[in-house]
Amino acid sequence: MKDVYILAIETSCDETSVSIIKNGEEEISTIVLSQIDIHKKFGGVVPEIASRNHVENITIVIEECLQKAQMKVEDMDAVAVTYGPGLAGALIVGVEAAKTLAMIYDKPLIAVHHIAGHIYANRLEKKLKFPLICLVVSGGHTEIIYMKENYSFEKIGGTLDDSVGESYDKVARVIGVPYPGGPVIDKYAHIGKHTYNLPVPLDDDSYNFSFSGIKSAVINLVHNEKQRGNEINVYDLARSFEDVVVDILTKKTMRAVNEYNVKQLLVAGGVSANRWLREKLKQLCDKENVELVVPEFKYCTDNAAMIGAAAYYMYLDKRFSSLDLKIKPTDKIN
Ligand code: KG4
Ligand code: ZN
Repeated sequence: MKDVYILAIETSCDETSVSIIKNGEEEISTIVLSQIDIHKKFGGVVPEIASRNHVENITIVIEECLQKAQMKVEDMDAVAVTYGPGLAGALIVGVEAAKTLAMIYDKPLIAVHHIAGHIYANRLEKKLKFPLICLVVSGGHTEIIYMKENYSFEKIGGTLDDSVGESYDKVARVIGVPYPGGPVIDKYAHIGKHTYNLPVPLDDDSYNFSFSGIKSAVINLVHNEKQRGNEINVYDLARSFEDVVVDILTKKTMRAVNEYNVKQLLVAGGVSANRWLREKLKQLCDKENVELVVPEFKYCTDNAAMIGAAAYYMYLDKRFSSLDLKIKPTDKIN
């Protein structure tokens, strides 16, 4: 079969990213322009500023990606784009750019769900073996998904309130770490010891999660200690928080792995970069003889390479969109 090249665009949050992916598994070139430094001073992503920056940068990033690959849009077999979920104004920029390219160059247009993208970031690492379980842990999502074949997503559990990434960012904020705090809490946790007693979130028989309780417990603890004039050991607090969160995530995920008798466990989304989560899942999967697949660090947070990897399977099924494709900022994966 002839090689398939897909030009993919991702602008769902604060990264303007464009990538060229060959046959759904090989990165030819990827550009990720992060706006983190711009949003840092506001303590989080400001949607209007994010969309304005996407508008300014999208054509430059597309050109840079093509140049790096030494390819032209004419060489592409399709144009793929994230249509949701995400920030409305940010998504529109990517979708309009993709539609324009698809129209001018007469290429099929492929609309990719952002979480499908995060899941298929793992395809850039290894071939997927079904059935599999994927733990999706990002800034907006915390879900356990069962896949019996390519592009079949069955959500078997998810968060009832905050996402795990959100709670990491919130905990970081109360101890004075700038946005996005997740990676810094992860670093601190490796230095500290588990000394603070925090509540275990939703330890029941379901595959659901709840992180608002532990988040509030951390906020109250910091508040109370400050009022008493006591210093917080931020490293120990980070370790105590991370231990509890990773414990419940891995416990429920491994129960799903066993119950569904799967061949692989995948981890997806920004929090899949968390070192303790990766380490602990590796230990548990080795014990259970299940193959663990985690994305390379550069594919954990938002990027267009994962969108190109996911789009390949839609290309094979000819699941193309028309040029009146609309964004869906709150679309669910199933
Ligand atoms: O997937 P992502 O880039 O954006 C969304 O689609 O939401 O995820 C971003 C989230 C942020 O909350 C960030 O703090 C978290 O992923 N994150 C981490 C780590 N790296 C990124 N959380 C914990 N440990 C990390 N190493
Ligand atoms: Zn994401």
